[in-house]
Amino acid sequence: MQIIKKEILVQAPDVIIKRIEVLSPLIAKAAQPGQFVVVMVSELGERIPLTIVDRDIKNGAITLIFQEVGLTTKLLGKMNAGNSLYALAGPLGHATEIKNYGKLILVGGGVGIAEIYPAAKAFKEAGNHITAILGARNKDLLILEQELKASSNELHITTDDGSYGRKGFVTDILENLLTYSSQLTAYSLIYAVGPIPMMKEVSRVANNFKIKTIVSLNPLMVDGTGMCGCCRVTVSNKTKFSCVDGPEFDGAQVDWDELTQRNMAYLDKERHICSIINLVPCHPERAHSLRHPE
Ligand code: FES
Repeated sequence: MQIIKKEILVQAPDVIIKRIEVLSPLIAKAAQPGQFVVVMVSELGERIPLTIVDRDIKNGAITLIFQEVGLTTKLLGKMNAGNSLYALAGPLGHATEIKNYGKLILVGGGVGIAEIYPAAKAFKEAGNHITAILGARNKDLLILEQELKASSNELHITTDDGSYGRKGFVTDILENLLTYSSQLTAYSLIYAVGPIPMMKEVSRVANNFKIKTIVSLNPLMVDGTGMCGCCRVTVSNKTKFSCVDGPEFDGAQVDWDELTQRNMAYLDKERHICSIINLVPCHPERAHSLRHPE
């Protein structure tokens, strides 16, 4: 569980995103795209879920990418190569169903781009034609552009402010692609990871074109093994535990409003902790969406 490499991917005034490589030969051997680990930085700290972005079986290491948003990710961000995590459990959750679908669109927003990367590589290896759409608020916050370029056939970039790629949202490009795709080149599946409003909107747009969207959800998690019930989400009017039934679900069937509300449940408490330990800046409203913050 030793951190062997640490790198800053984004250092902007209000966004810090880091990549670490952690020694864990067993997890590296078993991990599949779409799975995550639960990390404890210290003995008294909380557990946080982080997606396994990459693995190096030879060196027994996994790659994690996280945005510093709340107490635990900020503490994790302070750790350096040579330091060890207190605990690491995984790989958890169901792996992405990788097969040859034909033409796929992968949509990544913010740090969610890190989560579509392992899926993009695996889908490409399975013979799919990959169109990737990456969205960020501005150019400085865009991550893994070169990696996604290498693992896709077509790459589109949007920024909210137009500082790079097309000005607008990922759904603008998505709607365009779906509108102008002919039956011959029709897309079979959309795979989207990012902030809740983005995944909700991608699912809505894709549903209008009767294309299935797989989303990777980011509810609050405690144990990550189906015991606490904390990560429950409603999908197709049924209660599911995101950690053991997911984290991937059919986006058209997710109760997005409930997920949004549940993710804000501990806002006040996190704000309180941040103020006690003088952790500034702290964005408690985003602290629990750790796998891909808003
Ligand atoms: S995190 Fe406890 S049941 Fe899923």
